[in-house]
Amino acid sequence: MRRVGIIGASYTKFGERFDSNMQELAWEAFNDALKEANIEKDSVDYSIVSNMGGWSSESLPAVIVSEGLGINPKGSVRVEAACASGSAAIKLAHDIIASGQADVVLALGVEKMRESPTKTIVEYIGRAGNFMWEFENFGLTFPGYYALYATAYMSKYGAKEEDLCEVAVKNHYYGSLNEKAQFTNRITLEKCMSSPYVAWPLKLYDCSPITDGAAAVLLASENFIKEHKSEAVWISGIGYATGTANLSKRDDFSGLDAARRAALQAYAKAGINPDRPASQLDLAEVHDCFTIAEVMAYEDLGFAKKGEGIKLVKEKQTYIGGLIPVNLDGGLKAKGHPIGATGESMIAELYHQLLGKVKGGRQADIKNGRALAHNVGGTGHYAYVTILSLDRSDHA
Ligand code: COA
Repeated sequence: MRRVGIIGASYTKFGERFDSNMQELAWEAFNDALKEANIEKDSVDYSIVSNMGGWSSESLPAVIVSEGLGINPKGSVRVEAACASGSAAIKLAHDIIASGQADVVLALGVEKMRESPTKTIVEYIGRAGNFMWEFENFGLTFPGYYALYATAYMSKYGAKEEDLCEVAVKNHYYGSLNEKAQFTNRITLEKCMSSPYVAWPLKLYDCSPITDGAAAVLLASENFIKEHKSEAVWISGIGYATGTANLSKRDDFSGLDAARRAALQAYAKAGINPDRPASQLDLAEVHDCFTIAEVMAYEDLGFAKKGEGIKLVKEKQTYIGGLIPVNLDGGLKAKGHPIGATGESMIAELYHQLLGKVKGGRQADIKNGRALAHNVGGTGHYAYVTILSLDRSDHA
């Protein structure tokens, strides 16, 4: 297998993007990534478009995007792994290059969610749990699903609504330093606590928003990088797992089994000690679609013991200067969550962080040269954990 590196990455301003159609949004992210990689678009051998879709007008996004970017007739495909679609695209791009089938592959996520009203979006996402049983019979929506995890966690470990709001306060703080974030306002604990309930105990500020946006990552083979590039960030391990469709088939509601499995695989591939991963990483992007999801991620990734995730954020251990800074771009909560583009946007953020290129007072200290992205689809229906490194030989 060949080594694979990232040579350019970017994401658009997230939020309500009625100013751009799908092709224009994709171009905005791609053009920036291309400039950063300093290569011609003809170098791209294949493209993978991550998009959950359904809510937007275009139903063949891979064709629309590759035509818009001017990279057809090179091959393309659309991938879907719900909110983890972007990480699935990165994995596929990695595997195509590692196996020697291509030298440069584009993973591009794009989503135009705001074309549809909230109730349509909530229904489509809700159906992504398990339509025939949980959606049809119980009307479960995603805020509802994660509210079940939150109540299970609160009942098991004694966490409070205020504790969950600490995650929103942190992520809005870092969102305020990221000009591409959907929300750039800082919030207080009181503001979060007094926001209206969406699904008890989750309130408006416990939820990620509905977002338009695109993100692009250019991946290349070691040979290509040696010939054309002076710097790259390397993929040192990708772990992945798929959970059950029905929540009723799961036996633990205080964490996500698929995420734990994905993390252990990624640690094994990247040569990271699963007993103390935080000390070997400089920062992480985790899937905070709801505040409880970030707390469970700390524990599923081994950054905190079971039941102690809340302590990490309360003690500011996931701010810059703490044990492991998390979501320095504002996370899904404040940066936004354009479902199919979220995974690539996490990788783009980590790429720039590792290279020390992040401005606005949210650059992490880079000592270990390694960073982690945790991207969950559904409620652990899919999970991907990707570890990036500045060191080409950094793998088990
Ligand atoms: N956090 C903070 N503020 C939010 C917000 C959020 N998640 N969502 C909307 N707002 C704000 C808007 O900016 C707007 O503020 P304004 O009145 O000052 O302009 C106000 O709340 C109303 O916005 P609107 O777009 O009408 O919200 P909504 O009520 O239609 O939708 C949710 C709110 C929470 C229902 C919606 O964002 C949602 O469903 N989020 C979850 C998405 C999801 O499930 N993703 C997949 C996760 S796995």
